Amino acid sequence: MFQKAIEPVQIESFEYILENIDEYVERFSTDAVVVFRGVQISRDQQLLIMRIFGDRIGWFPNSTSNMNQVWSYEENHQYTMDLYNKHNIAKDEIFIPWHIEHIGHKNPAIGATWNMEKFTCERGLGNTLFANIADVHDAFDGEALEFLNKCQIAAFYGWAADESEPQTEPTIYPAVQIHRPSGRCALRLSPMFNPEEEFFYLHEFDGTAPTESQKNIFFELSERFTKIIYENRDIQQVHAWEQYDVVVVDLFLMAHAVLGGFKSEDRFFHGYWAHAKESSKYDAAD
Ligand SMILES: [Fe+2]
Repeated sequence: MFQKAIEPVQIESFEYILENIDEYVERFSTDAVVVFRGVQISRDQQLLIMRIFGDRIGWFPNSTSNMNQVWSYEENHQYTMDLYNKHNIAKDEIFIPWHIEHIGHKNPAIGATWNMEKFTCERGLGNTLFANIADVHDAFDGEALEFLNKCQIAAFYGWAADESEPQTEPTIYPAVQIHRPSGRCALRLSPMFNPEEEFFYLHEFDGTAPTESQKNIFFELSERFTKIIYENRDIQQVHAWEQYDVVVVDLFLMAHAVLGGFKSEDRFFHGYWAHAKESSKYDAAD
């Protein structure tokens, strides 16, 4: 059993991406991730990639969207290292635990580009792991899926460090959802699930309040989901970074984690978020 290595697309220029965009969008729809390698891409060009993919995949930002509704961030992981005292995590150990982005948010990120503007450590350090939750869905048996198709989840965002305000009401959403670009079923459980904490639980089963036994089954299936993501190397994929790599990732589908082995001064990326609705992660404009 091996983790699948994500094969980058070698590019000769930024224009090369634009010339072959149909092929890359097609690949993205199938694989949920595309990595461009070979030239340094500016932040303006990165934003253009977001908008072109937005037109074709159906996310914001796109070519007509309001530039006041675009969210970006810079990440060297210093904050996480300091907050959790994670300065010396080995290269084969998990530094940022497996998660699905913005679980519990009303308008979670469904995509991103990560532009690795600085990467001065050895290749193979600070790898990013991915697990496609449509693959995880397909690893469940029919009986479990029949149950999960009747589950409405209540989720709080809780764990993230950058939240500006406390969340008073959970976000409610179905456990199994169709991924529009591929038509596949995605299992939107949480690999950060902890039965001791009230951040993530079964809200309704088949339209009514769940029984204790249904809650227990949901907990067991959530644990199975987490175990598959952490342990099933047939499902895991790995990206080994090089400087200037640009990753375009489908965050509706891709649970992800970051391995250790790097110092914050060696690894720095600029990210743009993509959303299904043209608003921030906190607020879905209907
Ligand atoms: Fe993330």
